[in-house]
Amino acid sequence: MCGIVGVVGRGPAAASIVDALRRLEYRGYDSAGIATLENGRLTRRRAVGKIENLEATLARRPLGGAIGIGHTRWATHGRPTERNAHPHVVGGVAVVHNGIIENHHELRVELKERGARFRTDTDTEVIAHLVAQELHNGLAPVEAVRATLPRLKGAYALAFLFEGHDNLIVGARKGSPLAVGYGKSEMYLGSDALALASLTDVISYLEDGDVTVIKSDGVEFLDREGHNLSRAQGAIATDAKAVEKAEHKHYMRKEIFEQPEALGRTLAQHLGQPGLTVALPAGTAGVFRDVDRLSITACGTAYLAGLVGRYWFERYAGLPVDIDIASEFRYRDVPFRAGNPAIFVSQSGETADTLASLEFARARGQRILSIVNVPTSTMARASEIVLPTVAGPEIGVASTKAFTCQLATLACLAIAAGRERGTLSAEAEAALVRGLANTPRAMTTALELEPAVRKIAHRVAAFRSALFIGRGTSYPLALEGALKLKEVSYIHAEGYAAGELKHGPIALIDKDFPVVVIAPGDASFEKTMSNMQEVIAREGRPILITDQKGASLAPQGRWETLVLPTMPAICAPLVFALPLQLLAYHAALALGTDVDQPRNLAKSVTVE
Ligand code: F6R
Repeated sequence: MCGIVGVVGRGPAAASIVDALRRLEYRGYDSAGIATLENGRLTRRRAVGKIENLEATLARRPLGGAIGIGHTRWATHGRPTERNAHPHVVGGVAVVHNGIIENHHELRVELKERGARFRTDTDTEVIAHLVAQELHNGLAPVEAVRATLPRLKGAYALAFLFEGHDNLIVGARKGSPLAVGYGKSEMYLGSDALALASLTDVISYLEDGDVTVIKSDGVEFLDREGHNLSRAQGAIATDAKAVEKAEHKHYMRKEIFEQPEALGRTLAQHLGQPGLTVALPAGTAGVFRDVDRLSITACGTAYLAGLVGRYWFERYAGLPVDIDIASEFRYRDVPFRAGNPAIFVSQSGETADTLASLEFARARGQRILSIVNVPTSTMARASEIVLPTVAGPEIGVASTKAFTCQLATLACLAIAAGRERGTLSAEAEAALVRGLANTPRAMTTALELEPAVRKIAHRVAAFRSALFIGRGTSYPLALEGALKLKEVSYIHAEGYAAGELKHGPIALIDKDFPVVVIAPGDASFEKTMSNMQEVIAREGRPILITDQKGASLAPQGRWETLVLPTMPAICAPLVFALPLQLLAYHAALALGTDVDQPRNLAKSVTVE
């Protein structure tokens, strides 16, 4: 969730750190801070709010030095105040941390008994105290860090500076990602490739348990016992550099409009020549053949993509699917059958609960497939089979293009499973593939609805709550539409299976209640229309999102309607997602919220 950066080299470090922090801001933006060393002396600046506030502080009170560490925070322990902002400095040690120290309370009690005085409410401060004590006991910096790490329970990516050591950053990783970047007479440390992309082309990832010792002219990697390790160097993908907004006001809009192209890229990767078959990585062959079920696990929007996937695996491959939210799955007593496939879906590939679920399933003999947008992520590296979504970097906190690329990948996997299990004929596969191949074009048409969606969004923004309903694959979409609206506009929104309306939520309906009805002209259309009539009968305000076929069948009346082109059923969730994203985006604009960085959220949730 938080982002961390370190720079050691030719300086001035503060400018490079600010630049990298700006690229990491999607990980958290409650507060930010930098510490540098100049002539052996530690100095720091911190500010509440976004990086621009830290920049303003630095403009008034610059920081010199060719070595420094920086942090952008998503508060877990302690309110987002300047006092709680990282780096934390104790006894000549400065530390920045991403993760959660679960035993911080008992460590704090112990340290206080030994005379330590705490200045913050954070879990991180205990780390600075522990390392400072080890230095005080006579250990050198690297040994002081190594002696402290076994005392920490939980997850961390850490970077340390030490007063008097102008050419030394020590980093450590357990559970939270961390990478080292290589420059010319300059070295870097950062939470991910995106952070380091403005500084270098070459990086190495730390593995769990690694400690790294970084100086301006090189780096060492150590294991828990202090033995030297080698970690491979790799190039930063060129798309990690392309994170500009272009002509768009917000990343969210840019990413919504990139979807036809992003989807085309993802499909090109998963479809074979001449476009009538699905072609997945070689390792996928046989994965679905003799299995009795499949599990899909993810969080948030990625979980909702998985929910759509369940309908497809059941329909096309006759394969029962267990689907769960990662924070639940990892603690359930799931009865596993060895050799069954387990799919993990994640944009970042770093979400703590999804990653822990992946390890949980792997330890129980499942075959691990991951659908990730960051091919160098921890999840990708821990998986037997990786299906990259190639959506390109997603910077807006609300997931948009990653979602539809996840859907496309799940659709291709379900088709491949159907072929392998003999439930889909070659003709049926070709028809589905043709449908998918047309999706980017249908998306382009859907994006032309933006002016109409904007008008509707302005009306929705006048209400305090909204409901989204749908059946079949439109049910997970209803959940996604509600999630998108609430996260960027802060309007209370809920998604329901349309058939559930009368089992409770209908009690809410009155003239002040917009209800978004997602209803392609498919086999459930009539039933969803009955549910819409139930809303109308109670003076609710339906907003019907349908296709041309649905529009021709829909009853006449005075409600808002958005009409998409008629398309094959497999494309509908991918294309219908777009007006829902635009609705959330324009409602947020109308309400003046911070669309790309909504309050309380962070892009990459690397804590439990
Ligand atoms: C919502 C959203 C989140 C993420 C969730 C999982 O718009 O972006 O719900 O989908 O935090 O993140 P990843 O996909 O990175 O595992």
